Amino acid sequence: MATILVTGGTGDLGSKLAARFVAKGETVRVLSRRVRSPEATTEWAQGDMETGEGLAEAVKGADIVVHAATGGGTRAKTDVPGTRNLLAACKEVGTPHFFYVSIVGIEKIPLGYYKAKLQCERLIEESGLQWSNLRATQFHALMDGFLRMFSRVPLILPIPKSFKFQPIETGEVADRIVEDAAKGPVGRLPDLGGPGVLTFGEMAKAWQEAHGKRRPIVNVPLLGRVARAFKEGYNCTPEHAEGKITWREWLHAKYAAGF
Ligand SMILES: NC(=O)c1ccc[n+]([C@@H]2O[C@H](COP(=O)([O-])OP(=O)(O)OC[C@H]3O[C@@H](n4cnc5c(N)ncnc54)[C@H](OP(=O)(O)O)[C@@H]3O)[C@@H](O)[C@H]2O)c1
Repeated sequence: MATILVTGGTGDLGSKLAARFVAKGETVRVLSRRVRSPEATTEWAQGDMETGEGLAEAVKGADIVVHAATGGGTRAKTDVPGTRNLLAACKEVGTPHFFYVSIVGIEKIPLGYYKAKLQCERLIEESGLQWSNLRATQFHALMDGFLRMFSRVPLILPIPKSFKFQPIETGEVADRIVEDAAKGPVGRLPDLGGPGVLTFGEMAKAWQEAHGKRRPIVNVPLLGRVARAFKEGYNCTPEHAEGKITWREWLHAKYAAGF
């Protein structure tokens, strides 16, 4: 039985990871800035990767550190110092298997958040620790969040319709990480993508159907290197379309009443 620290264990992916490791009978510790929730079924390490507070305690005795904490697109600057602090704490306590979760195509898409993720990958590769890195495509829940945000505009749904995505169900990513973490450190793993590549327009159409909405989906023409990269689908990995749960199936499960 291993002791596994899951950073970001309160997040979308991290919470699913923690539950799966617990179900396997592993000892799981969640790193979070929050106080331990009364419902938590895991050990808890309160800490902040950005300041380094609590990290020494968090990594103590860990055989595997799955690093799924992120400041996200809005606080991308958190990730680089946070990862650096976490790596330093790991090196102090020994040689845990450091398992990172990254994003498909980040080296080809000059988005601030992706640049930070790429920098984190480099720090891990150069850390001297044993590591694995799984890059996945966008989670269904993230795309749902984007569409909810764009739908705040009244009367229309304005999106860059030709952007491509290959969304995947977060639990399927968690399943893969649990499987891969057990194999030991292997470096960069094959990418993991959802079952199919869709345009944002197609995704929005299914999303509106799930919500019983019929607002016109209006294209927002975006220019520049980032927009071109998403139009080309550099964030997709059709050759690794291993996810099973489609966008429509996920929407149906989440918003069943609308179908
Ligand atoms: N979402 C996607 O579509 C997607 C696709 C591919 C890869 N990924 C990668 O998968 C990983 C997980 O993504 P997610 O969408 O599941 O994330 P998420 O739901 O946004 O969760 C982020 C987690 O990070 C923790 N966190 C943030 N700042 C922190 C800090 N300073 N110190 C400690 N913990 C901090 C939060 O914990 P507390 O608030 O409890 O502190 C939270 O649990 C990320 O590395 C992401 O880049 C995501």
